[in-house]
Amino acid sequence: MSMNLVTLLYLVASVCFIQALKGLSHPTTSIRGNIFGMTGMAIAVLTTIALVHGQARALNVDFTTGIAWVLAAVVVGGGLGAFMANKVEMTKMPELVAFMHSMIGLAAVFIGVAAVAEPWAFGITAAPVAAVVGARTPDGAVLFEGFVRHAIPYGNRLELFLGAAIGAITFSGSVIAFGKLSGKYKFRLFQGAPVQFSGQHMLNLVLGLATIGLGLVFVATESWPAFFAMLALAFVMGVLIIIPIGGADMPVVVSMLNSYSGWAAAGIGFSLNNAMLIVAGSLVGSSGAILSYIMCKAMNRSFFNVILGGFGGEATTATDGAKEQRPVKSGSADDAAYMLSNAETVIIVPGYGLAVARAQHAVNELAEKLTHKGVNVKYAIHPVAGRMPGHMNVLLAEAEVPYDQVFEMEDINGEFAQADVAIILGANDVVNPAALTKGTPIYGMPILEAYKAKTVIVNKRSMAAGYAGLDNELFYMDKTMMVFGDAKKVVEDMGKAIE
Ligand code: TAP
Repeated sequence: MSMNLVTLLYLVASVCFIQALKGLSHPTTSIRGNIFGMTGMAIAVLTTIALVHGQARALNVDFTTGIAWVLAAVVVGGGLGAFMANKVEMTKMPELVAFMHSMIGLAAVFIGVAAVAEPWAFGITAAPVAAVVGARTPDGAVLFEGFVRHAIPYGNRLELFLGAAIGAITFSGSVIAFGKLSGKYKFRLFQGAPVQFSGQHMLNLVLGLATIGLGLVFVATESWPAFFAMLALAFVMGVLIIIPIGGADMPVVVSMLNSYSGWAAAGIGFSLNNAMLIVAGSLVGSSGAILSYIMCKAMNRSFFNVILGGFGGEATTATDGAKEQRPVKSGSADDAAYMLSNAETVIIVPGYGLAVARAQHAVNELAEKLTHKGVNVKYAIHPVAGRMPGHMNVLLAEAEVPYDQVFEMEDINGEFAQADVAIILGANDVVNPAALTKGTPIYGMPILEAYKAKTVIVNKRSMAAGYAGLDNELFYMDKTMMVFGDAKKVVEDMGKAIE
């Protein structure tokens, strides 16, 4: 395959990736975006295989086994990916993403190690620095093969150091993020609560400087021990950077690691002189960084506050049952249905619990019945409601909720004061007025102002705290009625009562 054709195909794949990112920014275009992404990746992989095959042929190297390995990896990896994506529940998606990032990080490390060991095999033009001539016995039998040792150019060494180091940090950091998000493992480092100890920041600083120092030794001398010691420190750094961060901040962390994995791929792309890897890595790197910024903004927190804050540790203390019991007003699904059908305007606030209960279809049916009765129904979406960016939009889109009923926080907040009923379904932190009180862990996070509605209905299963582990004053207000139970069952019962 000619280099011009390779460049053209890489360009087409890059355009597909950009279209994929654009499409994925809205539920209506997300399927198209996904198709663009898959097409771009297929073009990129096939073009790279053809390119390497051509290069191998030019060097008279047999690449058939290599191609067989690559294709086998594509089939096994693609099959596993399809299986996992098909099986994963929406609420477990952030864990899956964290797991995927760990794999990207590990791939960057493996490529870095392989390129340091065999630079020529990666197309890195290296100058010969030493030659060992092979030896044979007098009758011609080979005693040992000769070889030529090549020096990797300084620029490539720097790229390999950066790519492998970022890859190692991404790998171990993502493994910790995966454990914290899944909440299934007893291992202390996998608990949602931050792990903090005195001198932690100093230790991180020292390790960071040591990693850079060893990396620079590798760049200057091409010393393998320095490279592997640098890698070992980078793995430890990944763990140490993530453990002090609480479970509630994991989405920002996952998005940040996503960004790192992109930059690691781009760094390796420079070493391998592969434009496709540079473009794809940069797209992932920059989109992950932008997403982290958007999430920090949605929580009104700085990036440093997330990294150094230790937010989310309260979850264990506030939900440990030692809390005082305060009286709340509670009612049945029938009571709620009566209030809803007599309202002029109803704002539905979906949250994580709605996703857990898989109640999105029931909610859409309820809204249709209310609309049919002349009630004006709107949905209010908080940017970090649920467990991943756009979680609620995806859920509502799945239930085919009309897009013109769905409003982002800044567009709907002004309407709560006029709404007759705000009905909160499995949401907690995103409507918690504690965000308005100085000194609370979520202080400053913009919230959906449901507390301003004339009447508030809250559906959840118990008085347990939300993700940030905080009690919610909204539940104790005079105008609030709690309807306890699983969201799906409660919403279905409301629908039946309205009928
Ligand atoms: P949360 O604050 O997590 O509250 C969810 C509520 O749903 C819980 O209080 C729970 O109470 C209730 N619930 C659980 N299962 C239920 C069921 N089957 N039926 C009815 N209710 C159920 O959710 P939120 O308000 O959506 O806020 C999201 C939080 O997660 C924020 O703190 C955010 O920072 C964080 N976070 C966000 C993301 C992103 S990017 N979206 C990712 C990770 C974390 P009961 O147990 O009493 O039922």
